[in-house]
Parts: sequence; C-alpha cells; structure tokens
Amino acid sequence: MNSSHSKLTDWGLEHISIANHDTILDVGCGGGRTVNKLAAIATQGKVYGVDYSEESVAFTKRTNARWIEAGRVEIRQASVSQLPFPDNSFDVITAVETHYFWPDLPADLREVLRVLRLAAHSSSLPKSTKEPTRPPLNSSKNTLNLSV
Ligand SMILES: C[S@@+](CC[C@H](N)C(=O)[O-])C[C@H]1O[C@@H](n2cnc3c(N)ncnc32)[C@H](O)[C@@H]1O
Repeated sequence: MNSSHSKLTDWGLEHISIANHDTILDVGCGGGRTVNKLAAIATQGKVYGVDYSEESVAFTKRTNARWIEAGRVEIRQASVSQLPFPDNSFDVITAVETHYFWPDLPADLREVLRVLRLAAHSSSLPKSTKEPTRPPLNSSKNTLNLSV
C-alpha cells in the first residue's frame, strides 16, 4: 500500500502549500508513508495521523518511530467520522486513497472540514495508471484527497 501510493502522494504534495510550521492531519494513514513525507516537509510543525484500523495505526507508528520519539508525529486510532480533535486544529489535511472506504462521505467530509482551520478545497482524482492531469489545488490551506 505504501509503495503503490507513493508516486501519487508525491505528486499531490508537490501541488499544495505546506509551511514548515504547519500542523497537519493525514486521515486514513495506512502504512504511514504520507505522514513520514509530511513530517519531513513541515520541519517545525507537527503531523497527526488517524486510521480506524489497529493494524494500520501500528504500521504507521513503526514507519514513523523516529518522528514520534522526537514529538513531531502523533498517531491515533480513530474514524474519519469522529475525529478526536477540536474545531480548527489543522492547517493542512490529506487523505490519500481512503475516502472510498468512508461510511458517509458528505458527513465525513464535514467532519474533516470541522477540524480544518480555514476554507478548504478538495480534489478527488480518477482511477488511472497514468500521471494525474487534473489541475491541482492552489489554496494555501488545503484538504488533499487523492485516489487512483
Ligand atoms: C488503501 S489504504 C491507504 C493508506 C494510505 N493513505 C496510503 O496512501 O498508503 C486506506 C486506509 O484508509 C483507512 N480507513 C478506511 N476507512 C476509514 C475510516 N472510516 N476512518 C479512518 N480510516 C479509514 C484504512 O484502514 C486504510 O488504512
């Protein structure tokens, strides 16, 4: 899961603005590769990951052990439907290859927006083996929702 999504994730992350002090959430963090990339970009910030699967949480914690020890990453077991964070907690929220598992997409997106600090934009990419071609997000504060 990590390696197959890595290229798309790299492409997506290149197209959003991430400041080095941003507080970031990755929803459905899976194996933790996106959390790892985000922590390397937001060098003065903090990255949170949530996943409803105990196995994915354990995997993400292993992948990010160094960052967790440094206090730069925190991983929680939680569903997108009930995010364990106060309103307006995050500057950037990512969700890669996960939204099609969410139980109630409109309500779950509202929950994501609840914890996002400013106006959000969402981009969902069609399934394709080719390089994604849809225009990327251009807001400074984004929700990035990628699927191939
Ligand atoms: C295909 S994997 C993608 C993982 C990772 N984002 C990546 O790109 O490698 C989908 C992930 O979404 C998680 N997931 C599915 N439904 C979820 C929900 N309702 N809340 C939180 N995570 C969920 C799964 O447990 C799984 O780890």
